[in-house]
Amino acid sequence: MSKHAVRRSFDRAAASYDAAARLQRNVCRLLLDRLAEPAPARILDAGCGTGYALGLLAGRWPAAKVVAADFAPSMVTIAGGGVCADIEALPFAAASFDLYWSSLSFQWCDAGRAVSEAARVLAPGGRLAVSSLAPGTLAELQDAFAGTDRHRHVLDFPPADVLASACATAGFTALKLERRTLRFHHGDLAALLRELKALGANQVGTRRRPGLMGRAAWQTVEHRYEAWREAAGLPATFEVVLCTASKPTS
Ligand SMILES: C[S@@+](CC[C@H](N)C(=O)[O-])C[C@H]1O[C@@H](n2cnc3c(N)ncnc32)[C@H](O)[C@@H]1O
Repeated sequence: MSKHAVRRSFDRAAASYDAAARLQRNVCRLLLDRLAEPAPARILDAGCGTGYALGLLAGRWPAAKVVAADFAPSMVTIAGGGVCADIEALPFAAASFDLYWSSLSFQWCDAGRAVSEAARVLAPGGRLAVSSLAPGTLAELQDAFAGTDRHRHVLDFPPADVLASACATAGFTALKLERRTLRFHHGDLAALLRELKALGANQVGTRRRPGLMGRAAWQTVEHRYEAWREAAGLPATFEVVLCTASKPTS
């Protein structure tokens, strides 16, 4: 998927995003729990989306200056302002931040480039906190679509060790990598796809809108997804990677 398409998709989704952001909220809280003191003075939220983490970070460290960055202009606007920028090529000087935070944006990026930019903009002794998605994410959806057509409906999420080796290559130390499986339930498949779409992740869910699929193909997908149904509804699994590391002091 081209970077241009990802950016356009998130830009369009910005207004409807917060209502659907159960995953984002849970992951931000898990990532914040993995950060110890001391308080960082300057924080970058890279791929800030609508800015949910900004309030969490400011709540934990009220004296910190938090800068938000995202390449989708509508996201930056809804976040309350910030810098419209690609996190693979940040417009900040070296050593500008003490904490580099990025939640659920790396799965859209080249992890090597994003981590090397993180290393550059962090001051010596600065910390990295990144969450991303790993293979197994939306496995039910992948299964339901399997064999229906020639389109790929679920993004190829990179394995967690891609992030780990990018951190090692960029010189980070004290690397901690944890995997958590989160599952959310939906009343039906249309509701699940609406939520993915509102997250800007519509390419993750389906390449073509359900309405554009043949009726028979859509019914097959719905039927196959029903096999996954649990008491709480249709599950969607997210394999979350939580990564923290430090930039050496010298
Ligand atoms: C799933 S949202 C997560 C937003 C937010 N961090 C949160 O936790 O709610 C992913 C965000 O990453 C942004 N993004 C993806 N690739 C990016 C890139 N290369 N540079 C800047 N932002 C990017 C998208 O525009 C979107 O706002």
